[in-house]
Amino acid sequence: MNTIEEFIKSIPKAELHVHVEGTLEPELKFQLAERNGLQLPYNSVNDMRAAYDFNDLPSFLAQYYEGMSVLITEEDFYDLATAYFARVATQNVVYVEMFFDPQAHTSRNIAFDTVIKGLRRAQDDAKAVYGIYSELILCFLRDMSAESAATALRQAEPYREWILGVGLDSNEKENPPIKFRNVFADARGQGYKLTMHCDVDQENSVTHIWQCINEIGVNRIDHGVNALEDDALVEEIRQRNLGLTVCPISNAYVTDGTKAPAIKAMLSKNLLVTINSDDPAYFPGYMNENLLRVQEEADLDKQEITRLVRNAFEVSWLTDDRRSTFLSQVDTFLESN
Ligand code: HPA
Ligand code: ZN
Repeated sequence: MNTIEEFIKSIPKAELHVHVEGTLEPELKFQLAERNGLQLPYNSVNDMRAAYDFNDLPSFLAQYYEGMSVLITEEDFYDLATAYFARVATQNVVYVEMFFDPQAHTSRNIAFDTVIKGLRRAQDDAKAVYGIYSELILCFLRDMSAESAATALRQAEPYREWILGVGLDSNEKENPPIKFRNVFADARGQGYKLTMHCDVDQENSVTHIWQCINEIGVNRIDHGVNALEDDALVEEIRQRNLGLTVCPISNAYVTDGTKAPAIKAMLSKNLLVTINSDDPAYFPGYMNENLLRVQEEADLDKQEITRLVRNAFEVSWLTDDRRSTFLSQVDTFLESN
């Protein structure tokens, strides 16, 4: 083999930062709206895509939440996740840790059970049909109250075995990690892995990353690019072997670029950085497009791409057995490429 593009496309990959609701492509949104008898405020797929002109996190989130209104039945959640799995099956993604936002649905009177049963059935079928193995991460919405997060955690109790970890997403402004200290402590007590979004170029980004480490005790950090502004923070993240799930095309939409140079710098500082798609229906690009974009912008070589890909398996929450199996798959690929 051949070109770096083919290398990126064919290496077995893991995705650790994708919001299932952010994989809702306009075509499916229209289908689900029709099935559920809903009228969308757009005449066509093209009109809808044209409205995706975000320039910061809140302008993206407005479209993201509006889009979810078509997700109503268990079948809708099944179709949503199945479409994502079908898509990434063509990209040699073999393992996914997938976020879902239950409060964005329960607040619309969609039952927690409806959401998770649809997602779980899609996961089972993706394993059977595509051989893609996946896990769920329950994300709390940080612009809702800590009590609301605690309710979501209680609703998850019957499904404890179906959920690997908890995360924190939505609008970071004035919603610091410490707002959720108690609910994350409870989640840890119940055996969940912990992660939180520290979105790029937010107010107090560096403080929020420190809080994630010192006050919450996260097992991973989502985004976290601004850690590079503080040498002591970089050192802390490295010593704790904390993974960073960076989302280049998403960055280009909500801040001033993909942060490809920062990603390269993270590699050179031996941080466990990974590449992910975040909300690929809104920030167009799945795993391969994200890797390719960083490769082009930061002129990464095959060794650097391999490190990004291996990092994802290393910082995933797989059992050690499964992790070794996936890493051997990567090694086998490298032997002939
Ligand atoms: N940041 C915050 N909230 C989100 C995101 C994100 O990248 N994607 C979906 N909800
Ligand atoms: Zn995200």
